Amino acid sequence: MIRAHSKSVDDTRALAGELAMFAKPGDVILLSGDLGAGKTAFAQGFGRALGIDEPITSPTFTLMRQYDDARVPLLHVDVYRLDRMQEVVELGLPEMLDAGMVALVEWGDVVAPVLPADFLHVDLDFGDGDDERAVRLRSVGASWSARMNAIGRALERWTV
Ligand SMILES: Nc1ncnc2c1ncn2[C@@H]1O[C@H](COP(=O)(O)OP(=O)(O)OP(=O)(O)O)[C@@H](O)[C@H]1O
Ligand SMILES: [Mg+2]
Repeated sequence: MIRAHSKSVDDTRALAGELAMFAKPGDVILLSGDLGAGKTAFAQGFGRALGIDEPITSPTFTLMRQYDDARVPLLHVDVYRLDRMQEVVELGLPEMLDAGMVALVEWGDVVAPVLPADFLHVDLDFGDGDDERAVRLRSVGASWSARMNAIGRALERWTV
């Protein structure tokens, strides 16, 4: 578990951008945290660092957005509504991951049962100040676990 601390929305984007350097085709990152915690902000910093120039907006009403013009093509999914669980299955996420995409899934803990067994869980929580966030990164499975030491070093600016 890596515990990091963000001081602003740009700080969260920068942290996510560092993490994006470790992204590989087929990766899944689950983003959890209450409304407004910063999951979409995290996705924006992550996507920018992958080389995506177009604006990354919240996929709450579209369920999923795909950004192909990137170092690793990005799939940004939001499964806020629980009745979309079946839709997530129907999206064919495993196939898209096999095709070489990296998936960021907002409210991911809810859909964990239908996703691959190997993922990084990023949880965002409100802090003392309005612009402060606690960011916890936890690896599940061998693929992300093998990267955690290096990620911890890369995120030293944000860890306490
Ligand atoms: N340190 C911070 N990190 C991230 N966002 C922050 C931070 N400080 C303030 N904010 C603000 O909090 C809001 C986060 O919104 P965002 O849409 O990213 O949240 P979300 O977790 O995706 O919410 P939702 O559950 O609605 O999808 C933004 O308005 C952002 O400017
Ligand atoms: Mg969001």
